[in-house]
Amino acid sequence: MYKKIERNAPCWCGSGKKYKSCHEAFDDKIIGYERMGHIVPKRSLIKTEKDILGIKESAKINMACLDEVADKIKAGMSTQDIDDIVADVTKKMGGIAAPLNYEGFPKSVCTSINDMVCHGIPSKDDILKDGDIINVDCSTILNGYYADSSRMFCIGDVDPEWKKLVDVTKEAMEIGIKAVKPWTPLGDMGDVVHQHALKHGYTVVREIGGHGCGNEFHEEPFVSFVSKPGTEMLMVPGMVFTIEPMINMGTDRIFVDEENDWTVYTEDGAPSAQWEVELVVTEDGCELLCW
Ligand code: MF3
Ligand code: CO
Repeated sequence: MYKKIERNAPCWCGSGKKYKSCHEAFDDKIIGYERMGHIVPKRSLIKTEKDILGIKESAKINMACLDEVADKIKAGMSTQDIDDIVADVTKKMGGIAAPLNYEGFPKSVCTSINDMVCHGIPSKDDILKDGDIINVDCSTILNGYYADSSRMFCIGDVDPEWKKLVDVTKEAMEIGIKAVKPWTPLGDMGDVVHQHALKHGYTVVREIGGHGCGNEFHEEPFVSFVSKPGTEMLMVPGMVFTIEPMINMGTDRIFVDEENDWTVYTEDGAPSAQWEVELVVTEDGCELLCW
């Protein structure tokens, strides 16, 4: 899979350095792991320094959108109002909202309330009310680079049990972030996220998960949060992906809205929570790029 590069030729990463004094040792390490039977990322999944800087610039817009939503969100507001905020901030800062027209998605952001697991479509008819929990999932394109993150918001007086779901889901994401260690398999990370949810009696959505991100919206690998230790792709320095577990209070079974073909709900109507960050794997762990 890894094509040999002449040692004195310029490195594939665009550093301008010779291959032998740049990524040759790194590539040899990957080839070694592949020979041992590990799933390894292809070269296009390893971001260059320029890519990381580009993603960070895009992330500034994404986080500004979510900060603005955090400032303004309250009961009585519609999810369309949230869409307007995101569209506005994104435009003012020179970015593009990635969801808009993505595979036909009709709005600039996903707004998923209570038993909506993800891909809620903003509407002027969906009014936030006291006691709701909502995930706002924002994604930005700037100069071809993708930023992707989501946060939960509690509207007014939320049932303590629901608040706990929101908090435990955030903890699960944070435990996942701590489990990102280079040259270890993604399945190890996914499993600690899963175990934290199970410990509290919750379930984790199986069909939808995190993803590589950066030069496209959704890249390899698929990042599962019900994976087994020792399985899945190795986390390699320079890989960028999201950690975004969807955690349900009741069953893990879900269905897709037949009318809009997008919005995912829990089958039993119990609430679901999700937090999302985008990160880059480093030599000793990871660095958050967007949250
Ligand atoms: N933002 C979602 C994610 O975290 C993807 C949404 S796709 C959309 O992967 F089309 F609904 F925006
Ligand atoms: Co994502």
